[in-house]
Amino acid sequence: MQAIVLRAFGGTDQMRIETVDTPKPAPGEVRLRVHHSGVNPADWKMREGLLVNMFEHEFPIIPGWEAAGEIDALGEGVGGFSIGDSVYAMCRKPTIQHGSYAQHVIFPADWGARAPRNWQPAEIASVPLAGLTAWQALFQHGDLQPGARVLIQGAAGGVGSFAIQMARHAGARVAASAGSRNQDYIRSLGAEHSIDYTLGNEAQQLAAWAPEGVDFLLDTVRSVNNVATYDLVKPGGTIVYITGAPDVEAANRRSLRLAYFMVEPNGAQLTRITRLIEAGGISAPAVTAIPWEEAGKAHQLSREGHVRGKLVLRIG
Ligand SMILES: NC(=O)c1ccc[n+]([C@@H]2O[C@H](COP(=O)([O-])OP(=O)(O)OC[C@H]3O[C@@H](n4cnc5c(N)ncnc54)[C@H](OP(=O)(O)O)[C@@H]3O)[C@@H](O)[C@H]2O)c1
Repeated sequence: MQAIVLRAFGGTDQMRIETVDTPKPAPGEVRLRVHHSGVNPADWKMREGLLVNMFEHEFPIIPGWEAAGEIDALGEGVGGFSIGDSVYAMCRKPTIQHGSYAQHVIFPADWGARAPRNWQPAEIASVPLAGLTAWQALFQHGDLQPGARVLIQGAAGGVGSFAIQMARHAGARVAASAGSRNQDYIRSLGAEHSIDYTLGNEAQQLAAWAPEGVDFLLDTVRSVNNVATYDLVKPGGTIVYITGAPDVEAANRRSLRLAYFMVEPNGAQLTRITRLIEAGGISAPAVTAIPWEEAGKAHQLSREGHVRGKLVLRIG
């Protein structure tokens, strides 16, 4: 098969399409013929060697942590999937080595889920990693309750685009922050109050909607590094963050619960997301599909930090 291969950490020039062995699924695993692979900020961070303290890496590395396509081989003992099924998965393994920027990827069958029938193939690939991160942040690490007021920061990005909609669907009231050009976008996803962080007075903009602060803050933009963030949340409230270094004392002063997590593959949760999408509870984020020959360009765009929705690589 062909795959994008990285032989050392470094710039985008390190990513080259090469011919490598097609992987064979072990017992309990499935193999996907990959049509699209999502691009996440973790991909360029991994390429630059910034994740070495978090994961084992083994070169040569095929980047990519999520894929959408069709099952083309089943390992022994796999039930629930058949050859030809349209499936998607977050497929980051404990050792970073065999990723999804490839014509085929294997992963444990219970990481996969049947893909939504009502979305386009490139849209489907936008879901697994960002969708699971939003789900796990709100409902697994955050216990979001109906009626709660939630602020999603970084709302126009991959995680935020799903988090706004999932929080709304769970009955929460949602405020969201993004730059000026994304105000309409985050409102279109269901934010009832939008904050333009480029204006610099986030607390004032939030106070117009939640004078006492919000019950729940999802930070995707290292906002926990800034002490002013803690005043956006009501005493006793929750901050879930997925990047950054929190000020634990500032959180303690307001009796806030702080939760960090690293998203994990989870086919059962992804199946619930599929059902939600098919029921019309989530619309596709803005998706930009880029040919995989231009993966370097996709990494550069992601690294600039202003992707609206998701980037996906079209692998074919
Ligand atoms: N711990 C985990 O398991 C986990 C999982 C997924 C992601 N992450 C991390 O979480 C971060 C977000 O991931 P992502 O996939 O959502 O990234 P992304 O799609 O690249 O996010 C880009 C978005 O961030 C917005 N943004 C940038 N600065 C902002 C600010 N100061 N306030 C509000 N919005 C801002 C941009 O909007 P504008 O263009 O309007 O500025 C853009 O739409 C990344 O660092 C990623 O590595 C961690």
